[in-house]
Amino acid sequence: MNLIDSIKAKAKLINKTIVLPEGEAERTLKAADKIIEEQLAKIILVGDENIIKMATKKFSLNHIAEAEILDPSTNKYRQKMIDLLMEIRKEKGLTYDEAFELTKQPLYLGPLLVKMGLADGEVSGAEHATGDVLRPAFQIVKTAPNSSVVSGAFLMILKDTTYSEDGLLVFADCAVNPDPNEQQLAEIAVATAETARKIAGIEPRVAMLSFSTKGSAQHSAVDKVKKATALAKLMNPNLQIDGEMQADAAIVNAIGQKKAPGSKIAGHANVLVFPDLNSGNIGYKLVERLAGADAIGPVLQGMAAPINDLSRGCSVDDIVNLVAITANQAV
Ligand code: ACO
Repeated sequence: MNLIDSIKAKAKLINKTIVLPEGEAERTLKAADKIIEEQLAKIILVGDENIIKMATKKFSLNHIAEAEILDPSTNKYRQKMIDLLMEIRKEKGLTYDEAFELTKQPLYLGPLLVKMGLADGEVSGAEHATGDVLRPAFQIVKTAPNSSVVSGAFLMILKDTTYSEDGLLVFADCAVNPDPNEQQLAEIAVATAETARKIAGIEPRVAMLSFSTKGSAQHSAVDKVKKATALAKLMNPNLQIDGEMQADAAIVNAIGQKKAPGSKIAGHANVLVFPDLNSGNIGYKLVERLAGADAIGPVLQGMAAPINDLSRGCSVDDIVNLVAITANQAV
């Protein structure tokens, strides 16, 4: 069974409820239909009920009737949501009128349903930029108790298995933090190892990437990665992690042994933690395009409940897969 099939099989067993705030969009509706047909999760669609019903007919979707619809214009949870928003955001100066307006916005309704316990997770972003999806989630669902930073990991499924764990590598942060400090980078490393174990089903060996391997170059950017590696070891003493190291030293055995002799990670890493978002985002896109890898994610980690952001170029199957992953994260 491949990775996605096993993630879907688990989603089927646990039968979580996932909210899709872009419920009027064609790709979301087609994905929801498939998710319900395959019994991967229970679905809440946010959107105008009439538009959803018309689209259901137009695209001959046979299973959407089983989804719950939350229409922002008639929102039956409005007062509870206003009260919740006022409670969560009162220190930030949110007024009643502003809270009222937010309860009409689908990208706020998703995280609100999660916070109220009416959904186990949210998937959106097929029609919106990452920041617009993440901001309401950060404000309402917030970070998990032992976490101060949310980051985005990609499960990279490679055709060539030479430099990976049976064709699988986990990359982070490729989606959220433009320039994490050493503490944040350490947290990202620990969280990514957890994602590798829980979602990808592999025993993580984490390489902290840099343009330097074990002091081959001196720069404040290298020092950041060194300090983050030490902090991550303090946060989780059992974590198999090493750095700083270059990408080739991380995944090519002969180069790893030459540049970082004695390292148990060098040459064998299956989790690659990038020093900043420039390198992480560029890195995953290059591997996706040049190596023809499937890039699954970003899987957001560090949030108090699973909220995941799609790429605007996503396919129906990408939405289905991310819903299955989100359901797995909700366990
Ligand atoms: N983790 C947890 N909480 C966060 C994070 C984070 N990484 N970043 C911001 N927050 C919280 C803040 O604490 C704040 O909470 P508060 O209002 O309760 O105080 C709230 O979110 C808003 O914070 P701002 O700093 O005002 O948020 P801002 O809008 O500036 O930035 C954002 C957040 C949108 C995630 C920004 O960092 C960003 O745009 N990142 C890049 C996203 C991106 O474009 N990625 C590349 C594309 S994705 C892809 O290709 C797969």
